Amino acid sequence: MRPLQVCLVIEIPVCLADRSYAITIGSGILEQTVGLLPSGDDYTSAVILTHPHLLKAYAAPVKRSIESLGVRTTVLTIRPGERFKNLRTAARLYDLLLDAGVDRKGILVTVGGGVLGDVGGFVAATYLRGIDFVQVPTTLLAQVDASIGGKTGVDLPGGKNLIGAFHQPRAVVIDTDTLNTLPPREYRSGLAEVVKYGIIADEALFDRLAAEMPLLHRREFNVLSSAIERSCRIKAEVVAQDETEQGGRAILNFGHTVGHALEVATGYRRFKHGEAISVGMVSASLIGEEIGITPPEATTRIIGVLRSARLPIAFPADVPYDLVLKAASHDKKALGGRPRFVLARAIGNAEHGIDVPETAVRAAFARQVEMS
Ligand SMILES: NC(=O)c1ccc[n+]([C@@H]2O[C@H](COP(=O)([O-])OP(=O)(O)OC[C@H]3O[C@@H](n4cnc5c(N)ncnc54)[C@H](O)[C@@H]3O)[C@@H](O)[C@H]2O)c1
Ligand SMILES: [Zn+2]
Repeated sequence: MRPLQVCLVIEIPVCLADRSYAITIGSGILEQTVGLLPSGDDYTSAVILTHPHLLKAYAAPVKRSIESLGVRTTVLTIRPGERFKNLRTAARLYDLLLDAGVDRKGILVTVGGGVLGDVGGFVAATYLRGIDFVQVPTTLLAQVDASIGGKTGVDLPGGKNLIGAFHQPRAVVIDTDTLNTLPPREYRSGLAEVVKYGIIADEALFDRLAAEMPLLHRREFNVLSSAIERSCRIKAEVVAQDETEQGGRAILNFGHTVGHALEVATGYRRFKHGEAISVGMVSASLIGEEIGITPPEATTRIIGVLRSARLPIAFPADVPYDLVLKAASHDKKALGGRPRFVLARAIGNAEHGIDVPETAVRAAFARQVEMS
């Protein structure tokens, strides 16, 4: 007898009044995309935005699903890479949407990683003052983080995500099978955000990650699905409590003040987002130690788990502190040119909005340069 194939689909609500939606996690669910949209939604046309190399395996089943409703569907592609997450790409997409005859009852479906979701979401937020969109994230990072919560945007040469809008998707469809083709470095980059959730909100998740890292590296289905689910639940809860980041949502930026600044200082080319965040989380821990907020024991555990995730932890010796500090002063959370930090009081407990003397930041960097 053949073993029974149990296909478990997990649904996580993101509760935001009339902007509520569901995150659906499952294996092999792309072909069912249309069934995962809110019932009653009715569209004149659809545009699927993807990268050329994801077209056949991932955008095509989504297209078939939408076309089964009789909705005219156009596929647009953009080249992969953070350097294309800019206003030029957005401007080109506006023209293409217009050419495709997309009106206010059109829907945009993004099939790709966080870069594609961010720029596609931004275009959806602004084209005709906003059309509906759906996120079909295909990287681990986008599945656990970027696709959820409605932050959309593009970069400026002077800083990441400096242009943007809050625009919630109508649905998030996470097909874990898409991760089978994700290159190892991209996969590890996503693990950084999963580790982040453990640090800011869930010590049990953190400990599980530490114990199960070898299984995660092998992409063992149950372990990976459960890490994705827990991450999505944490993100959904944080977003539901503070949709537009008036307060609590800022804890999601743990590691991002220095992480984003490193990405800017290195021209978005050297680090994957998650790698920069990994270095930034170690900076945040050391900064926390410098001002007596983070216990050294927590830093040790954070470094341990990031090492086992094969993520970078050292501050790059060839990047001047001043460059990173300058970029951090342009961070969206900076006030009066001074960056605000999210720091950990313990594993599972973070605090945001902390003003730190520059001497403490420099002292932390100096310790971190020595690490390898
Ligand atoms: N909006 C948010 O809340 C939020 C949160 C976190 C990160 N982000 C943003 O997300 C971006 C990073 O996203 P990312 O890490 O997904 O990077 P990415 O979108 O650049 O994707 C990484 C690479 O993987 C490729 N790829 C995607 N899916 C694949 C698959 N299934 N198989 C093979 N290759 C695949 C892409 O083409 C790309 O080359 C950053 O711009 C960051 O600022 C946004
Ligand atoms: Zn991030």
